[in-house]
Amino acid sequence: MNKFTITVPASSANIGPGFDSAGLAVNKYLTLSVEYSNVWEFEHQSVHLPANPDPAKHLIYQAAKETADTFRAPLPPCKVVVESEIPLARGLGSSASAIVAGIELANQLCQLSLTDQEKLKQATMMEGHPDNVAAALLGGLVIASPLASGEIGVFKKADPQVELVVSIPEFELKTEDARKVLPEQFSRNDAVAASAVGNIVFAALVSGNYELAGKMMEEDLFHEPYRASLIPNYREIRNEAKSAGAYATVISGAGPTMISLVPKGKGSLVSASLQKRFPTYNVELLKIDPYGLRVNLDLSSRLAR
Ligand code: HSE
Repeated sequence: MNKFTITVPASSANIGPGFDSAGLAVNKYLTLSVEYSNVWEFEHQSVHLPANPDPAKHLIYQAAKETADTFRAPLPPCKVVVESEIPLARGLGSSASAIVAGIELANQLCQLSLTDQEKLKQATMMEGHPDNVAAALLGGLVIASPLASGEIGVFKKADPQVELVVSIPEFELKTEDARKVLPEQFSRNDAVAASAVGNIVFAALVSGNYELAGKMMEEDLFHEPYRASLIPNYREIRNEAKSAGAYATVISGAGPTMISLVPKGKGSLVSASLQKRFPTYNVELLKIDPYGLRVNLDLSSRLAR
């Protein structure tokens, strides 16, 4: 009987003005250990996940089923042990990682041989926007945009030379609620101003001008000004991180986590300063995951079959 594992990183979407299009994969992981079974069964081994999950309502199962249906393949049942280091509803892409994991589960179980583009299309359709799912799938810094043809345009840079510090509060913020505070429309002038900031941020990040990227990241006009009031200590976290040497601090995804981009070698200092000042937060020093989704086939179980 074949066994395999699927590992998907967490992600931080937006990176300031890359609203709904840019994401960074980070080294916190969702891992599925899968073996064939007669019935569907999920077992959770994580403080972040509820006990006794119902397979039919499980996001990973739903993503797998929808993928199998899209490609008209029967989905064989299996037992899935889920381990997760990704806290829920904190802006670290937990649902995107689950969707990417579910798509890969169908890919393996149904032997679909999906391309990254096919997986990304499927994931974007399920999540509604590509930012978290593209980073979780591909790793690194990813900027993605659906095209009129249905294809997803994607740019990836695997290894921006920064460290990351996340300040994760104890409370949850649902993406749905954090999207309700955003304007439905922008005037042309406002759209031009907001996308100009974004253009500089991503040109600077990709070319390694992190000082400039940091300066512009904190000037986002697409979502941060509207969400700041939902996030206690928004300004204080920014200021503390900046004083300790960070390039910039922005809302991670829809929040409430804040993420600081920090020069290499300064992450411990920034992390310690933030943890001292905000003791109720879980402050963690993270790295960019350059790889994204990976699958590990258990060859010993295959040989034993
Ligand atoms: N781009 C999304 C948002 C990320 O900011 O609402 C969360 O899904």
